[in-house]
Amino acid sequence: MKNMLDSLIATLNSDLRNEWTHLRFYLYHASAVVGLHCSELKELFLEEAAGEMKHVTAFSDMIVGLGGVPTDESNFFPKFTDPVEIINHAIKLEEEVVSNYAQRIKEIREEYEITDPNAKWLEIFLEEQIQNSREDVDHLKQLVKGLN
Ligand SMILES: [Fe+2]
Ligand SMILES: [Fe+2]
Repeated sequence: MKNMLDSLIATLNSDLRNEWTHLRFYLYHASAVVGLHCSELKELFLEEAAGEMKHVTAFSDMIVGLGGVPTDESNFFPKFTDPVEIINHAIKLEEEVVSNYAQRIKEIREEYEITDPNAKWLEIFLEEQIQNSREDVDHLKQLVKGLN
């Protein structure tokens, strides 16, 4: 049982690393973006960064709640100045976590009893993260169409 929890915490920490990456990606590009729409995009990226800060906190709290130590590290991300490149990469980042979280839910369903309260809690939590990132993907795709 202990090992299963340890591996769950490790997986959640790799998810948390991605959330830190998203936070830093949006925050960085709020300043780096250039072009005619840079003011609007700065505002949008700062809003996204604020959302990611909530995700970072939520994953960190979840890991602490499970008895683990949350990471403060993030992954490498490429740096752009062109709005289309920034948004296309943001779409890639968001789509990546949507598929990660869908995979997590599948693993949790396979490994835990349906009545396990931790498992159910985690599932709902991940579903909300999927919804958040998926909404971002749709919004970003709509936005990038106008910029092409
Ligand atoms: Fe996020
Ligand atoms: Fe994100």
